[in-house]
Amino acid sequence: MLHNEVTKENLNNLVIKFYTKVIKDDLIGPIFIDILGKDLKSVTWKAHIQLLTDFWASIALGDFTYKGNPFAPHVKLQDKLSIKAFEQWLKLFFETLNTIYEPEIAQQFLARSKNIAGNFIRNLNIT
Ligand code: HEM
Repeated sequence: MLHNEVTKENLNNLVIKFYTKVIKDDLIGPIFIDILGKDLKSVTWKAHIQLLTDFWASIALGDFTYKGNPFAPHVKLQDKLSIKAFEQWLKLFFETLNTIYEPEIAQQFLARSKNIAGNFIRNLNIT
């Protein structure tokens, strides 16, 4: 059943499902695996999943747990990133959103993530 309400629990499911897809992806999977490894159950991945759940909760729920800097870790990935990689990230994210949320909510997350991806691309001079 698709959710018509965002909760921290369904955000956590979203994030887990998304990265399950991501690490299997030929284009962007290796970028994540290089840094975080390939075992989603590892301590490193668990921390990333929690961080990203908090990140989306800060956006969607006004939750104050996330205190990081979303942009910073991508600076060191600059050489590996491309417009194509961001397009693939957005595609996988939207596919996952549609398995968790009603279309209206999925669209809101998509709009937000497109916006953030656009900022990353501009600020990192990605082509
Ligand atoms: C091809 C596109 C992307 C790749 C390959 C990528 C990769 C990564 C990796 C490997 C990390 C972990 C870095 C570390 O722990 O050292 C990370 C962190 C993060 N990413 Fe991305 N990312 C991408 C796009 C995005 C987009 C579009 C968003 C937001 C909509 C996003 C949000 C975040 C956030 C919030 C963090 C955690 C930042 C913190 O440490 O507080 N990423 N990303």
